[in-house]
Amino acid sequence: SVNSTFDFASNLFPLSSTTGAGYAPIGAPTSAGLPSGGLGGGSLEKHKTLTYLNGLSLIVGLIIGSGIFSSPSQVNSNVGSPGAALIVWTVAGVLAWTGAASYAELGGAIPLNGGAQIYLSKIFGEWAGFLFTWVAVLVLKPGSAAIIAIIMGEYLVRAFIGASAETMNPWVGKTVGLVGLILVTFLNCVSTRLGTRLNDMLMFLKFVALLGVTIIGVVVAATGYSSSGTTANSEWKEHGWFEGTKMDTSAWAVALYAGLWAFDGWDNTNYVVGEFRNPSRDLPRVIHTAMPLVIVSYLLANVAYFLVLPMDLLNSTNTVAVVFGSQVFGKIGALILALIVSASCFGALNSATFTSSRLVYVAGKEGYIPSIFGRIGNGTADEHLSLSTQHTRSWFRKKIASLFGDEDTGLFFTPIPALVLNAALTTVYLLVGEFGTLLTFYGVAGYTFYFFTVLGLIVLRVREPTLERPYKTWITTPIIFCCVSLFLLSRAVFSQPLQTLIVVAFVIAGLPVYFWRVRGRGSPDRNWMKRETGGSRKPWWKFWAR
Ligand code: ARG
Repeated sequence: SVNSTFDFASNLFPLSSTTGAGYAPIGAPTSAGLPSGGLGGGSLEKHKTLTYLNGLSLIVGLIIGSGIFSSPSQVNSNVGSPGAALIVWTVAGVLAWTGAASYAELGGAIPLNGGAQIYLSKIFGEWAGFLFTWVAVLVLKPGSAAIIAIIMGEYLVRAFIGASAETMNPWVGKTVGLVGLILVTFLNCVSTRLGTRLNDMLMFLKFVALLGVTIIGVVVAATGYSSSGTTANSEWKEHGWFEGTKMDTSAWAVALYAGLWAFDGWDNTNYVVGEFRNPSRDLPRVIHTAMPLVIVSYLLANVAYFLVLPMDLLNSTNTVAVVFGSQVFGKIGALILALIVSASCFGALNSATFTSSRLVYVAGKEGYIPSIFGRIGNGTADEHLSLSTQHTRSWFRKKIASLFGDEDTGLFFTPIPALVLNAALTTVYLLVGEFGTLLTFYGVAGYTFYFFTVLGLIVLRVREPTLERPYKTWITTPIIFCCVSLFLLSRAVFSQPLQTLIVVAFVIAGLPVYFWRVRGRGSPDRNWMKRETGGSRKPWWKFWAR
C-alpha cells in the first residue's frame, strides 16, 4: 500500500520497524508547516499536513539560493550581451517550469514520496532508480553542495576583506566554504529541527535581498544616484541590449547550465508528494505559482544588475551582489549584501545537507551502499524509534531535546554516517572543482536524469494510457523539455568533453555495482520497490505493447 512504507514525515524518521522496509524523509528541508507530531504515528495519513502555501514556501525557499547571486557572470560572459543573457534566463526558467510541470504529472500518477528514484524504477525498472540514486549520492548531491559552499565562502570573504579585492586567491574562499560545510554537517548531526528552523528565517532574507536588488536597481537607473561616485551603467543606452552577442551554441549551452543552476530544486516538492493533504490539486498549483514567481524575480534582479553595473565588472565576478552593493552604497552596501547572500547560501547548504543525507540513508537501508550508511544515531533506526524508547526516555533528555525543537526527535537521532559520507564527498568536489566547471558538471549529470525521467512520462502515457492522472500536462510540455535538454546535453559533449566523460563514467560505473549489490547479493529489502510500485509490468523497451 502507498501508506505504510513511504512514510516521510518530513523531519522525522518513519517507524520503519513496523513495515520492514525503511524509508527516510528525503525532502522537506524547511519546517514550513511540517508535522511536529511524534514518531508514534506510522501511517502517512497522520502526516498529510502540507498545504498549498507550505508547498509554495518549500519550493521557493529551495530554488532561491546561491544561483541568482553568482551565475550572472557565467551567463553573461558566455553569451556576450545583456539582451542575450535575459533570453538565457528566460529559457532556463521556462525549461525548469516545463520540467516541474512534467514532474507534477508524474507525482499525481505515482503519488509516492521519493521523486525521480521512484518514477524511474516504476517506468524503466529498478536498475534505473538505482542508477539515479547512485549518481545522486556520488555526484549530484555533493556536487551541488560544493557549489553552494564555494559561493558562500567567496561571499563571506568579500564581506570581511572587502569587495574591491578583484583577484582573490580561490583557496581562501574554499577554506571558508569548507568550514561552513563542516558546521552545517555538525548541526545536522545534532538535530534535524535546529536547521529547519533556521531555514524559515533565511527564506525571508532571500526575498528581501532579491526585492532590494530590484528596487535599488530601478531607483539607481532612474536617478543616476550612487554613493561611490560612479554613476549607473548606461552602456546599454549607447550600445543597445544586444551588441556583442555571441553566436556559439556551445557557449550558449554553458550559459544555460549556469542559469539552470539558479532554477534548480524545482523537483523537490516531488520528494514529499505523499505528504500533501490534497496532492492532485495542490502540487500543480504550487508549481504554476512558484515557477513564474521565481522567473519574474530573477529577470528583474538581472535587469537591476545590468542597469547598475558595467558589463566588464559584471562578467568578472562570482559575487555579483557584493559588487552591486559596493557600487551603489559603497563599503556598507557591500557588507550588508555579502552577509545576506552568505546567509542565504548557508540556508541552501543546510537544505542540501538535509536532503542528501536522507538520500544516502535510504541508499544504505536499501543495500545500495554499505549498510552502515543506513544507520541513525548510534544504532539502527528501528531500535531508537520504537515507542517504548520514547516513553522511557528521561525527563532531562526530553527537556534538552525539546530545546532543539522536537521532543520526539531528540539529539543525535540523525543519520550520522550518511551525513559524514556526504560531507566527505562534498569536500572532494570543493577541493578539486571550481565554480564554473562544477556548474556544468552538475548540469550535465542532473539533466541526464531529468531528461530520462520526463521521457518516462511520455513512455508511461503510451504504455499505460488508462492510468489515473489527476493532473495532466499538455503533451507538448514534456516534449519541449526533452528536446531542449537533449540539445543541452549534446552541446555539452563538445564544449565540456571532460565533464561529460566523467559523468558518463560515473553512470556506467554504477551498473556493475547494481549487479553486485542489488541483483547479486540482494539485501533483505530488495523488493521494496516492486512491492510499492507494483514493478513494471512489461520490460520498458516494449513500451508500445499494451
Ligand atoms: N537553485 C539553487 C541555487 O541557486 C540550487 C539548488 C540546488 N539543488 C538542490 N536540489 N538542492 O543555489
